[in-house]
Amino acid sequence: MARTWRDRIVEAAGRLSGAGVPSPLVDAELMAAHVAGTSRGGLILAEPPDEEAAARFAQLVGQRTERVPLQYLIGVDFVGIELAVGPGVFVPRPETELLVEWALRKLTGMTAPLVVDLCSGSGAIAVGVAANRPDATVYAVEQSAEALAWLRRNAEHRGVRVVAGDATAAETLAELDGTVDVVLSNPPYVPEATAVAPEVRHDPHRAVFGGEDGLDVIRPLHRRAFDLLCPGGVFAMEHDDTHGVVVPVLLREAGWAHVREHRDLAGRARFATGVKGDA
Ligand SMILES: C[S@@+](CC[C@H](N)C(=O)[O-])C[C@H]1O[C@@H](n2cnc3c(N)ncnc32)[C@H](O)[C@@H]1O
Repeated sequence: MARTWRDRIVEAAGRLSGAGVPSPLVDAELMAAHVAGTSRGGLILAEPPDEEAAARFAQLVGQRTERVPLQYLIGVDFVGIELAVGPGVFVPRPETELLVEWALRKLTGMTAPLVVDLCSGSGAIAVGVAANRPDATVYAVEQSAEALAWLRRNAEHRGVRVVAGDATAAETLAELDGTVDVVLSNPPYVPEATAVAPEVRHDPHRAVFGGEDGLDVIRPLHRRAFDLLCPGGVFAMEHDDTHGVVVPVLLREAGWAHVREHRDLAGRARFATGVKGDA
């Protein structure tokens, strides 16, 4: 009798657990669902895998036991949008969805807004905005050649204008200075000596780490954001969860108004927002 998905998933979860994968059963189910072309819940109704599907599943499980990030293997769902990621680009994290949701609330009431995503990586933030606000003009700035390839693949067909360059440099998008409604960013911000999970080691170093104190990119980046914005324009920037005090202080000292810190459901400091002048 053909072995069912359930048999194969249970066996795979054992292998993944032995390799130290933190959520072996969920990962095995997600990979099986990906191969079967269904959801995790849909697996219960799926036909037993044929030889080809079983081989594909075994290959994915093998890669996952080597701690290849799950998202490289099956893609990422970010605010309901499918993004492709792989070597050379940062894997978007669920916590960044909070920043996008905040931005979409801010954009309510603005007509045809101009939005810039600095340090765009795979394009998660830019695409999250563009897909939900077809009237917006969205720019995405990224410096790394490898990341730019993924960004173009995810963002260009969704109308995002991809710009190769240093997000902190005055010449990048200089033609937009003083006109942008919303600047968003998830820059590299982890302090250099921080111990990270094995999966994070697959992310490019310069996508994750922000120098000794984690603020090397953040310091010039918020100033660039300030110059891009129109009076009353808003800024949101993700930061390390240990920077819930230092980043808002930095922003207030630099002249940002209405600076606020935003926490996730677990109470961790996640991103800071500010306004250019009084709105
Ligand atoms: C933490 S990742 C975030 C990617 C994406 N925004 C997200 O939320 O998934 C930071 C990204 O910033 C890029 N980056 C770092 N320094 C940069 C700079 N000075 N100018 C432009 N991009 C930069 C890295 O290559 C990386 O893709």
